[in-house]
Amino acid sequence: MKIAIVGLGYVGLPLGLQFARSGVEVLGVDIDPAKVAALNEGRSYIKSIEPGVIAAAVRGGGFAATTEFERIREVEAVIICVPTPLNKNREPDISYIIDTGEKIAPHLQRETLVALESTTYPGTTDEDLRAVLEEGSGLKAGTDFHLAFSPEREDPANDLSKVELIPKVIGGYTPACLEHAQAVYGKAIKTLVPVSSCRVAEATKLLENIFRSVNIALVNELKLVYAAMGIDIWDVIQAAKTKPFGFMAFYPGPGLGGHCIPIDPFYLTWKAREYSQNTRFIELAGEINTAMPLHVVNRTAEALNARRKAVNGSRVLIVGLAYKPNVDDERESPSYVLMHLLQERGAEVAYYDPFVPVIRPTREHAEWAGIRSVTWDRPTVEKFDAAIIATNHQAVNYQELADWVPCIVDTRNAMAPVNTKAGQVWKA
Ligand SMILES: NC(=O)c1ccc[n+]([C@@H]2O[C@H](COP(=O)([O-])OP(=O)(O)OC[C@H]3O[C@@H](n4cnc5c(N)ncnc54)[C@H](O)[C@@H]3O)[C@@H](O)[C@H]2O)c1
Repeated sequence: MKIAIVGLGYVGLPLGLQFARSGVEVLGVDIDPAKVAALNEGRSYIKSIEPGVIAAAVRGGGFAATTEFERIREVEAVIICVPTPLNKNREPDISYIIDTGEKIAPHLQRETLVALESTTYPGTTDEDLRAVLEEGSGLKAGTDFHLAFSPEREDPANDLSKVELIPKVIGGYTPACLEHAQAVYGKAIKTLVPVSSCRVAEATKLLENIFRSVNIALVNELKLVYAAMGIDIWDVIQAAKTKPFGFMAFYPGPGLGGHCIPIDPFYLTWKAREYSQNTRFIELAGEINTAMPLHVVNRTAEALNARRKAVNGSRVLIVGLAYKPNVDDERESPSYVLMHLLQERGAEVAYYDPFVPVIRPTREHAEWAGIRSVTWDRPTVEKFDAAIIATNHQAVNYQELADWVPCIVDTRNAMAPVNTKAGQVWKA
């Protein structure tokens, strides 16, 4: 079997490599020639993927990358893993999916499966994507080609998150589409979870991410309520976690980050309006989570004030630019919001992140592009008046941080096991 994976990012590349490992010939398609060149030379641009794995797949002939969409003709299945961001009005931007649909449609062969993996609102596959595929190919979904939605489930930096072992939800446009999709995915994935439609599969992914967003908001709110009562939320969660049923631990932080949790729930909010439905939990969770960076900045101001310092003119180090520990992904990271708010208040801001040596140019944070992580040594770090731990990477030496910086604002409870001075650490 030969398949194409369109969009070779955090989702598409590991999936493609898993198919290749399972004996399926994989053609990776991306619009970014730099990524295509890197892969064909056996180089990796994702920290969690060893270059050796890519090189072995390329050498063995199981994996090749291209920018040429006409090569879709060669394959039996096309799996689409392109971005689904929000636009500047926080509305779904499915233009990457539509663009991909338009590019593959003219080359689509009869009996081919097209499966969408990008997180999106219910109806994207059987309305929006189907329409462009049918128009561009002259073929009919369910009759001439197969159509399905199968959401990606991934937890970067979690060793248990292995593509082949994560049960995969699949919905087909017709029962035959589902059957076909199961046959394709079954080659590489151990457990398949067939559902009754593309829409159920799309809605499942949204439920999973909304569940996280709402629960993170809950602990973020409780963090503030309990702090006012002199109770530490981290102690509370630690104790609650011992309950063997009916509780799942979520942790507070400086705000949501990443490509999924801050964004995906609003895909549903937007679509729900078409049905005159409100998504109040989603809105409230969004409101609470987006208020967190300001809370952290206010705590930093309090902490500096206690040392007779103003934010204005202080040197503040953000520790951790990535949105979660032990990954190099800084998309949508609340660290950017922290840096922006502090700079607006006159602070001199820098960051340290062992996984993000330099900030890449992006549309969202163009002003920070090219800024480098400070080096981790005493003469550099001790010049800062305060440090904010935004992400608790394991690779950071928190004892050194305590030895070098007089004032630490900790949003992740990273300083709990560290020897610190009285009044040095401010939880936020
Ligand atoms: N990253 C995660 O942990 C994760 C988890 C589950 C679901 N998702 C979802 O998966 C989808 C992809 O996310 P990602 O993190 O892999 O994104 P990404 O930005 O890492 O990768 C997307 C890739 O698609 C390419 N691309 C963009 N437009 C294209 C086009 N028209 N044709 C071909 N290639 C194109 C980009 O060059 C890039 O390589 C999103 O919908 C996301 O919400 C992501």
